[in-house]
Amino acid sequence: MPLARSLSVTSLSGLEEWDEEFDLEDAVLFEIALEVANKVGGIYTVIQTKARLTSEEWGENYFLVGPYVESNVRTQVELIEPTNPVLKRTIDKMNSSGCKVYFGRWLIEGSPYVILIDVAFTAWSLDTWKSELWEFCDIGVPWFDREANDAVLFGFLTSWFLGEYAAQCEEPPHIVAHFHEWLAGLGLVLCRQRQLPVATIFTTHATLLGRYLCAGNVDFYNNLAEFNVDKERAAAHCAHVFTTVSQITAIEAEHLLKRKPDIITPNGLNVKKFSAVHEFQNLHAQSKNRIQEFVRGHFYGHLDFNLDKCLFLFIAGRYEFSNKGADLFLEALARLNYLLRVNHSDVTVIAFFIMPARTNNFNVETLKGQAVRKQLWDTAQTVKERFGKKLYESLFSLPDVAKMLDKEDFTIMKRAIFATQRQSQPPICTHNMLEDNSDPILSCVRRIGLFNSSADRVKSSCHPPPSTSNGLRGLVRGCHLGVFPSYYEPWGYTPAECTVMGIPSISTNLSGFGCFMEEHIADPSAYGIYILDRRFRGVDESCNQLTSFLFQFCKQSRRQRIIQRNRTERLSDLLDWRYLGRYYISARHMALAKAFPDTYIYEPHEPTSTSGFRYPRPASVPPSPALSRHSSPHHSEAEDNDEDERYDEDLEAEKDRVNIRQPYSVPFK
Ligand code: G6P
Repeated sequence: MPLARSLSVTSLSGLEEWDEEFDLEDAVLFEIALEVANKVGGIYTVIQTKARLTSEEWGENYFLVGPYVESNVRTQVELIEPTNPVLKRTIDKMNSSGCKVYFGRWLIEGSPYVILIDVAFTAWSLDTWKSELWEFCDIGVPWFDREANDAVLFGFLTSWFLGEYAAQCEEPPHIVAHFHEWLAGLGLVLCRQRQLPVATIFTTHATLLGRYLCAGNVDFYNNLAEFNVDKERAAAHCAHVFTTVSQITAIEAEHLLKRKPDIITPNGLNVKKFSAVHEFQNLHAQSKNRIQEFVRGHFYGHLDFNLDKCLFLFIAGRYEFSNKGADLFLEALARLNYLLRVNHSDVTVIAFFIMPARTNNFNVETLKGQAVRKQLWDTAQTVKERFGKKLYESLFSLPDVAKMLDKEDFTIMKRAIFATQRQSQPPICTHNMLEDNSDPILSCVRRIGLFNSSADRVKSSCHPPPSTSNGLRGLVRGCHLGVFPSYYEPWGYTPAECTVMGIPSISTNLSGFGCFMEEHIADPSAYGIYILDRRFRGVDESCNQLTSFLFQFCKQSRRQRIIQRNRTERLSDLLDWRYLGRYYISARHMALAKAFPDTYIYEPHEPTSTSGFRYPRPASVPPSPALSRHSSPHHSEAEDNDEDERYDEDLEAEKDRVNIRQPYSVPFK
């Protein structure tokens, strides 16, 4: 029975509507990844955030296929009986043939169906399947590599599942199978080798070799043509449609995997809009207060800087010191420290390093710092209570304010102040590091001498990531700038997350996010998107550029920062799945047309990349101290604190929305 599905993208302010209606006869979509209901890295975020949109489009015919991991299933999945009779027969058949396949709903937005396969249950087949792989596909897998072994089992089981599903259909089916990353890619190779009636898509999020080479000391991008990978190519070559998450990964794939992607499918987010436009600014202020409280405790005894003039920067991500650009960031911080000192700046910068180094608990200094802060808070509350009572009582007669604080109050306060004296410098780490002497961040801090001393205008603090995603979100919101000078970053979700929260960020032209923003925004830095050149400049030059971005940022007034945050937040629509989901839709259309040319026709329209439109330069002047007419010539400290400016920005936003045209539409019959 033909199914009419329509996807209407109407609520994106700024970006034009994209309304498309098309018929898909009996088409079923399986999206296959090892990170379905199983968080390992960024692919989990892609799949989990995209699920709502894809469920809206495919309804009952959308299934995610992943590995069965008991602890995940207990917390994230509601196991149910399949309602689709073909699927029920498929699962029953597999389960009666020595497999364990589960079916349920993943309890996330869109509550998509999930098919979870217990890989370990069929481990007895590993040797047979490996020989088959060698015999038919010339792919050898080392016996000791657990990850590769799981990929073999998962690959054979998913292709078995798809073959079984196709066999159970009464009519010839139209199946789309979208495989993510090489760990799931073997299933695709087997589908093609077994000539299953399946339209296949392969998306590579990062090449395996790229990640490892970049982590070493290799000039990766200038020697791309020299590297050689065989096994990872198989899935990319077999797929009807091959996609990468960014332009930079497309270049990498072209050289390493020897196939140019058919389309780029950038990673999106589910953007939540607040009903009050400036709510995100209030949330920034609230989160910043919490960070300031932490800083009061962490730097007790050395709080000789003005917290109100303190800027919070952060870097976060996997602990890959040079891939993530932590090396460059530290070096730039040292240079910034020098610049702020020689220019007698009253700004203090605190840089947070949120990376999962091996630690074993808070260290004593950190705990003591927070205890001292708490003690000062309690003392202030006690004195306030007593003072308040006396003030109230005295208001009935003529108050003698001088007598309101008695000797005891002063004693309590002096004792509390004396307790804040400290012989040591504020610590760099909040936790005990297990590999303190070989840790790359700490080694670099020692080398460049950023020890949180009083004279330093740049201070640093290393933390393991908060245990909850809310904790991390709070930190991101409260900071002023995210700094991600990555060398290897196929996409880069953290700067994207900063953007939708209205927090400016620095990324690079070697990161998917950076390239994407550069392509879509006429003047990225005016929108708080600073893009560092790490591709065509040497390390020292890139470091100078980063230092200059940071120094310029430090020169902004509060008003300029508020304006810039408004502009940053305005880019959210560009990163919303409701906009970016269309590239996935195109990839599926393309795959269906290639696999079933008699039924589907795909007519490519525009270039198969994400190009198409650009956010114009903001209507008002950019928030750079040198150029801003709004705030530089006549502004005073009082003006800086006048936040009405942000409302003027709404008018500016309206002007910006003119001229934005639809990127491209996908004609499909
Ligand atoms: C937001 C809040 C303001 C606050 C400001 C601080 O805009 O709405 O109340 O003053 O943030 O900005 P800053 O860049 O200094 O953290």
